[in-house]
Amino acid sequence: MLQDKRILLIVGGGIAAFKALELIRRLRERGAHVRCVLTQAGAQFVTALSLQSLSEDKVYTDMFSLTDESEMGHIQLSRQADLLVVVPATANLMARMASGMADDLASTVLLATDKKVLIVPAMNVRMWTHAATQANLATLKARGVEVVGPVEGAMACNEFGLGRMVEPNDIVAAIEAALSPQARPLAGRRAIVTSGPTREAIDPVRYISNQSSGKQGHAIAAALARLGAETILVSGPVSQPDPVGVRMVKINTAQEMLAATLAALPADIAVCAAAVADWRVAQRPNAKIKKALYGPPPRFELVANPDILATISKGDVARPKLIVGFAAETEAMLDNAQAKRKRKGCDWIVANDVSPAMGTFGSDSNTVHLLSDAGIESWPTMTKVAVAEQLAQRIAQHFQQAAE
Ligand code: C5P
Repeated sequence: MLQDKRILLIVGGGIAAFKALELIRRLRERGAHVRCVLTQAGAQFVTALSLQSLSEDKVYTDMFSLTDESEMGHIQLSRQADLLVVVPATANLMARMASGMADDLASTVLLATDKKVLIVPAMNVRMWTHAATQANLATLKARGVEVVGPVEGAMACNEFGLGRMVEPNDIVAAIEAALSPQARPLAGRRAIVTSGPTREAIDPVRYISNQSSGKQGHAIAAALARLGAETILVSGPVSQPDPVGVRMVKINTAQEMLAATLAALPADIAVCAAAVADWRVAQRPNAKIKKALYGPPPRFELVANPDILATISKGDVARPKLIVGFAAETEAMLDNAQAKRKRKGCDWIVANDVSPAMGTFGSDSNTVHLLSDAGIESWPTMTKVAVAEQLAQRIAQHFQQAAE
């Protein structure tokens, strides 16, 4: 299964770097092509010559080698592979990846790539459990980076704990999983996700909006893209980074969100996670409304915004095969969500409790229930990234079962 796959191995600077040598052997035995990038720190632990002998390919070490750049630019290097594997991923390399640095060949290649990245962390237990490393790990995972390990064990620094790199055979298994077609069960499917709030102008400088952060919708788009779906993310104004591998359509108003969603059809999957403003101001003046010093405050007539979820579910348009809505409720959550599913005509509803005590808006975690024809499934509280992952897996299962 690894026959003719191209692996770009980035060898970081840790004592576990020596395991990269055995990994190359295992990969070569399976017919994979391995090309190595050796960091300056990595070169303290393994030599370019050993990597070159085992990989039977040139080893890239210097970002500013003009010969290398003319033969194989760093962009090309990062794009020609099927998978990038960082072995070992040190705390420093993870931090540099998370902050998007590009100050050596390895970090530049990692920033320039459009391919999947697997990291294999190895470090001292305290470095691994440090809040900084854990925050970097969460950032990398949210961007779709795959991670294998670390495991618990004895370390070179004479400490014991979580931080030891997994063995080469486990890395091979993780590489196979990352490259297997099952890892992309939604390949060939098209998905539209709406996310974030909408902004409805009152005048050229003021607007009505809501607290939606876009975290859940963006994470869903990223998760669907990771499973291979061609994903279009229609988003209102948020401060979330654009997820990797999705096509962004940025809008402001509900009307623009509807138009962008309809323009993105046909699709197999639609997930409406946006918190669309229910109303907009009927007549919007072209100039800023003046504050009358002694007069009454202005009054606005509101009109209802189009319901995007209901519109695409109705089926006058090319109806996506599976439509998932969200229901943010503060009371009688499940009853209201079930009624909403029927009323809007979508297939599934993800219901969550947004009463102030739950703090879902803007928070990193979510407690949701999945409502479908099959009944109600209550999921444990988990991060929004994990909710997105599980939802995307459920969507993939749905299509697999429908195909059987
Ligand atoms: O009616 P309510 O806003 O509670 O419905 C929530 C669900 O409907 C979410 O999936 C949301 O994205 C979607 N929705 C929509 N267009 C609207 C209002 C809600 O797509 N105008």
